Amino acid sequence: MAHNKMQYLVLSCLPTLAVVTLQVTQAVQYEVNNNAAGTTGGNRFDSEIGVDYSKQTLESATSFIWSIFRQSTEADKKSVQSIQMFVSSINYPAYTSDNKIYVNSEYIASYPGDVKREITGVLYHEATHIWQWNGDGNANVNLTEGIADFVRLKANYAPSHWVKPGAGDRWDEGYAVTAYFLDYCNNLSNGFVADLNYKMRTGYSDDFFFELLGKTVDQLWSDYKAQYASNYRLIKGLVD
Ligand SMILES: *[C@@H]1O[C@H](CO)[C@@H](O)[C@H](O)[C@H]1NC(C)=O
Ligand SMILES: *[C@@H]1O[C@H](CO)[C@@H](O)[C@H](O)[C@H]1NC(C)=O
Repeated sequence: MAHNKMQYLVLSCLPTLAVVTLQVTQAVQYEVNNNAAGTTGGNRFDSEIGVDYSKQTLESATSFIWSIFRQSTEADKKSVQSIQMFVSSINYPAYTSDNKIYVNSEYIASYPGDVKREITGVLYHEATHIWQWNGDGNANVNLTEGIADFVRLKANYAPSHWVKPGAGDRWDEGYAVTAYFLDYCNNLSNGFVADLNYKMRTGYSDDFFFELLGKTVDQLWSDYKAQYASNYRLIKGLVD
């Protein structure tokens, strides 16, 4: 009897536990505001992208970023309660500050081609800025831009206007140059970018590359460049 009663108690607690878990994992709120309604860009946003789609995209981007960073528990993740997005007239295509993502309505107005796909990619990049660690403010900013574009690349939203893999003069040129270099590093050791981001939680050093891959970042960059140079020679050799 006592045993049965115990089972009953345990079972009756389960739904409560389930509700608590649900509340913890669904804590992030998403809000999207079109502050450019009535302008060309604001109208294009409404007709080709939309508030609902943007909210869903921010939510999918968030899950994707957690998986790329291999963050499964609340303790692993940055504590963010809400993400807001604003479509408005600003000086850049997009930027993020204080968990608020701003997307330029004029960029939307003049983007040639599939603007929905482009802004989806932009949102993956900007949402990464919200969730990534930045070495407590000491990280190389171009590296954080490269990580944001690495996430965009892995989500299959790299746009055609990006440089090609193997391009660039420095590993920390930022954006797509750094993103493709990080992809090369991540191919050497699957999970490298997750580990790098983890190390950036409290500080930053270029030595993180050596600690994770056994080669300095400069050595990795020259290996990477050499690989693309030899691919090029190979292709030329076949053509000539
Ligand atoms: C970031 O990269 C740009 C080139 O893309 C370069 O001019 C700038 O010096 C770099 N910034 C840092 C902090 O390395
Ligand atoms: C990394 O590996 C993937 C899958 O094999 C490949 O498509 C991609 O080109 C590689 N990236 C780099 C920068 O070498």
